[in-house]
Amino acid sequence: MYQQRRNRILRQSPAIRSMVAETVLTPNDFIAPLFIVEGENVTEEIASMSGYFRMSIDNTVKDVKELWSMGIKSVLLFGKCKDELKDNKGTEALNPDGLIQRAIRAIKNALPEMVVMTDVALDPFSTFGHDGIVENNEIVNDPTVEVLALMSVSHAQAGADIVAPSDMMDGRIFAIRQALEQSGFTKTGIMSYSAKYASCFYGPFRDALDSAPGFGDKKTYQMNYANRIEAIKETLMDVEEGADIVMVKPAMAYLDIIREVKNSVHVPVSAYHVSGEYAMIKAAAKMGWLDEEKAVLESLTSIKRAGADLIATYFARDAVRIIGG
Ligand code: PBG
Repeated sequence: MYQQRRNRILRQSPAIRSMVAETVLTPNDFIAPLFIVEGENVTEEIASMSGYFRMSIDNTVKDVKELWSMGIKSVLLFGKCKDELKDNKGTEALNPDGLIQRAIRAIKNALPEMVVMTDVALDPFSTFGHDGIVENNEIVNDPTVEVLALMSVSHAQAGADIVAPSDMMDGRIFAIRQALEQSGFTKTGIMSYSAKYASCFYGPFRDALDSAPGFGDKKTYQMNYANRIEAIKETLMDVEEGADIVMVKPAMAYLDIIREVKNSVHVPVSAYHVSGEYAMIKAAAKMGWLDEEKAVLESLTSIKRAGADLIATYFARDAVRIIGG
């Protein structure tokens, strides 16, 4: 039979396929999350995140130099707060000599060009493991927002380039922008976790930081995964309040949301390929049930194809190694 169109023509060789590929991963796409602990020369594997580590500041700096040499331009810092420093108000989060503040200074001293992003939320610092202040078993919005604004200024003072509020309180982007302006930090960016869902896929991360909620869950602030339109509402509000970059989180179960957000805003969109998504691939690969490298490339390419301009992923280093080689 005569065929006018033969779609397989453009699939017949690796060269042709790469010429017409619509989505290509590059090192510029990735944000590498890093877990920081107190101590010296500490590199400890996270049990539920095989091949991923918590590191002391000295080892983190070495690691960040390696990431930079590979072409990765951005890191996102999370600190593991000591139990004895935790309280309900996350006071330690504001300590100018706290772990994260020291880590920011050390990284920016060693590598001024690296874009340092910091997580802004109270959970690692909270005795309750919640992202906000708890009163009568409730996570109270406005008092939390005040602390988040101070925390953002503290990170900016230490040298953070971009603060990344991951708490999902109402109005925090506006409050953070105002606080940064009032303190003279007119060059500090805000990457807002705008559409952050209450997800089971954060499980391994909470092991990494020992930050699981002590009571209840996070459903009164993180979004219901049944909802799509709400993600657009949240994102548009964050842009209006002053977010420079918005985020959808998690990534792979939310590709529809990433695309819809991408079509709705005129700021860069990031997606967080979270700890549980990492752990699933690692576990299946360990069992011999998936080819890890192929699973990593297919996952990250699909997230970019969905519309993510940036991807926070624990596979950042591996992905660069795979695409480079
Ligand atoms: C803290 C925070 C979480 C993650 C990023 N920032 C955990 C949570 O909200 O419970 C999850 C990241 C991951 O799972 O990789 N607010």
